[in-house]
Amino acid sequence: MRALTEASAPEDAVLWTELVRAAATRGHPWRQPVLATTCATRGAQARTVVLREVDPANRTLLLYTDLRAPKVAQLDADPRAQLVCWSPALGWQLRLSCEIGCESEGLDVTSRWATLRHTRAAQDYLSPQAPGSVLPTSGDAAAAAAGEQRGAFAVLRVRVLEMDWLALDPSGHRRAVFDYRGAAPQVRWLVP
Ligand SMILES: Cc1cc2nc3c(=O)[nH]c(=O)nc-3n(C[C@H](O)[C@H](O)[C@H](O)COP(=O)(O)O)c2cc1C
Repeated sequence: MRALTEASAPEDAVLWTELVRAAATRGHPWRQPVLATTCATRGAQARTVVLREVDPANRTLLLYTDLRAPKVAQLDADPRAQLVCWSPALGWQLRLSCEIGCESEGLDVTSRWATLRHTRAAQDYLSPQAPGSVLPTSGDAAAAAAGEQRGAFAVLRVRVLEMDWLALDPSGHRRAVFDYRGAAPQVRWLVP
């Protein structure tokens, strides 16, 4: 492993730029990554989420969720997780190894809710029943309560520890791992 050099740094920056673009662009395939967590009883658990915000300077991402969703308890027990993005257009897979904390209070939560609360998406966090609750029939879950309260809205703060980038190309695949755990970022190139 070696420290990032002038030659390798641009790839790293390009990936962060693409993540910022993805969060801001509906239809960008990286806007809907798969989030994998660990469950003590059921093993690996993976699901689609929406990438809401990206902060390259702090190497953090924000996701939204329902505080009662099983993934929150899984992350409480073990904050290590992985986000996987794939773009057919770019031919790029990005695997983000990260640690995720869940926040249900504070300015970062209330400010996001202030933007969200008048949209249709607010209903996702106002259901009286927790996500994954068993319904008596195949019908819809009980209607969400209208009002000012944030319901179970929560923000997942993702701290990226490592990015594993795989670029598929007919002229030769490329793979690099960017490691942010140390004081200075490190890069290593791998056999794809
Ligand atoms: C396109 C798509 C986007 C989704 N976005 C989110 C999201 O941003 N946050 C979230 O908690 N669940 C999201 N979901 C639902 C999750 O995939 C999952 O079904 C739900 O959160 C329950 O997951 P859990 O039981 O592992 O906590 C999304 C599902 C789809 C199909």
